[in-house]
Amino acid sequence: MNGGATGATTGIAGEAVRLRHAEAADVPALVALERNFSGDRMSRASLARLVAAPAASVWVAELGGQVVGDAVVAYPPGSDAARVYSLAIEPGFRRRGIAASLMRRLELEAVERGCSALRLEVRVDNVAARRLYEALGYELVGTVEGFYHDRSSALLLRKLVGAAREAPGAGS
Ligand SMILES: CC(C)(COP(=O)(O)OP(=O)(O)OC[C@H]1O[C@@H](n2cnc3c(N)ncnc32)[C@H](O)[C@@H]1OP(=O)(O)O)[C@@H](O)C(=O)NCCC(=O)NCCS
Repeated sequence: MNGGATGATTGIAGEAVRLRHAEAADVPALVALERNFSGDRMSRASLARLVAAPAASVWVAELGGQVVGDAVVAYPPGSDAARVYSLAIEPGFRRRGIAASLMRRLELEAVERGCSALRLEVRVDNVAARRLYEALGYELVGTVEGFYHDRSSALLLRKLVGAAREAPGAGS
C-alpha cells in the first residue's frame, strides 16, 4: 500500500476536490482514466502493481465521491528524482485546477521522500500538458525522438523541488 488515505482537500468553485492515495478498489477508475491517452496506456496489471508498490505512489482526485483524475509517480531506488508516469483528468473536469493541485501534491510528497527533483516526459504536440507543466515551473532538459507508440517525440521536463530549488544557481 502507498501509505493509505492521507488526503488533502482543495476548494474549487465551492466544490471540494479530495486528493488521496489510490487503493486497490480504485484500479478500475485508474484503468478508465488511461482512456484519456491515445496510446501508451498503462495496463490494469501495471496500475495494480503501482498502487501496491512502496517505490511508487498513485494519487487520485475525487469530486463528489467520483474519481475524476489521477497522477502516478515512481521513486526509483537510488535516485533522488521522482518520475511522473501519468497524469489525467476526465474531460468534463478539466480547467478547474485539478491537475495543478495533483502535481503540487506530488511535489510535496517527493520532498517528503527526500527527492530533489521531479522528471517527466510529455508529447511535443500535447499543448495542454506543456502549458500546465510550464505554469508549474518545469523546465526542458532534453528530448527523446520516437518515444511514443506512434514514434512521436517526447520532451523531458524537470523541476527542482525543496532545498534544491532554493539553492543558488538551481535549474541552471
Ligand atoms: C493535461 C491535463 C492533465 C490538464 O488537466 P487540467 O485539470 O485541465 O489542468 P488544470 O486545470 O490544472 O490547468 C492548469 C493550467 O495548465 C494550463 N492548461 C491546462 N489545460 C490547458 C489547455 N487545454 N490549453 C492551454 N493551457 C492549458 C493552463 O495554464 C491552466 O491554467 P488556467 O486554466 O488558469 O489557464 C488534461 O488536459 C488531461 O488529462 N489531458 C489528457 C491526458 C494528458 O495529456 N496528460 C498529460 C500527460 S504528460
